Amino acid sequence: MIYSRIAGTGRYLPEKTLTNADLENMVETSDEWIQTRTGIRQRHVASEDELTSDLCVEAAKAALDSADVTAEDIDAIFVGTTSPDLIFPNIATIIQHKMGIPACPCYATEAACTGFVYAISAADKFIRCGDLKNVLVIGAEIITKLIDWNDRDTCVLFGDGAGAVVLQPSDEPGIISTHLGADGEYKELLYYPVGVSNDLAAAGLGDSRIMMSGNDVFKVAVKTLSSIAQEALDANGLTIDDLDWLIPHQANLRIIQATAKRVGLSMDKVVQTVQIHGNTSAASIPLALDVAVRDGRIKPGQLLLFDAFGGGFTWGSVLLRF
Ligand code: COA
Repeated sequence: MIYSRIAGTGRYLPEKTLTNADLENMVETSDEWIQTRTGIRQRHVASEDELTSDLCVEAAKAALDSADVTAEDIDAIFVGTTSPDLIFPNIATIIQHKMGIPACPCYATEAACTGFVYAISAADKFIRCGDLKNVLVIGAEIITKLIDWNDRDTCVLFGDGAGAVVLQPSDEPGIISTHLGADGEYKELLYYPVGVSNDLAAAGLGDSRIMMSGNDVFKVAVKTLSSIAQEALDANGLTIDDLDWLIPHQANLRIIQATAKRVGLSMDKVVQTVQIHGNTSAASIPLALDVAVRDGRIKPGQLLLFDAFGGGFTWGSVLLRF
């Protein structure tokens, strides 16, 4: 039996940070409001000339180094993002070219904040089939370029960044199981109103913004994140006590706390980066993973659970041994 396992991790965050104090000068808000309602203290914001693929390349280089492989070894790229450089070609092909990776399948998945979990689940299936040996999987976002900086409901929440992993085949898990889902019924609660076949002319005019019903999103997020965490454990005959680390999508500290409470997990076992990264959408889980791997909290052999939720709604969990 072939499984896939994470052989290396990496991350990249744009240099510029935007603190809550900076936002106080931009909209009617306060550090106290933002921290109390979201837990967020700061977020990273890409510069004008930085592209999502640039963030991906830096995160990927770090992941390749930690997996001890080179660009020539990579035989497929999977990227989860909602903020690609261009409509086409897809961002994975741009990364492939920038990194000098030999011609290979290049996939881009758009599943909002669940993008990385969708991407790693697909990559896992290819490796299990025996088709691929060194797969680069990236979650990345320059979501701040979609932000209306006058809209205090959303501008305080989001940030930019990229996280990457190298997946390799293994005789033992590795990834134990993945559990994906989506329900388009909830589109109206969280969406961006411009696309190729819908009002593309509005793009660039600066009059589009993220549409979000914060309270409703909050409730469905907590319910979904806790039920898919439980689904992954149940599917493998495990309980929450078996888990070493929960790595949830980092949208809001209160969502994370409520999810942990519902599944009966102490916050000591939850990797939290929302305070310093904000909501980086598809990048949030691989960013948090890399932080906790590099600071020594996550150790080889430990049982981890990725738990993601985003616009669509989309959702997904991944149970794995690191
Ligand atoms: N600063 C100060 N006040 C703000 C504010 C801001 N940045 N944004 C909203 N407010 C105000 C509202 O206008 C409202 O004022 P009112 O009572 O006078 O009408 C008040 O704060 C409370 O707003 P409410 O929306 O009820 O706050 P909340 O506790 O639900 O927190 C969110 C708002 C957005 C932080 C919260 O709902 C949330 O995080 N939802 C999930 C969003 C999310 O994670 N999206 C991505 C999912 S992947």
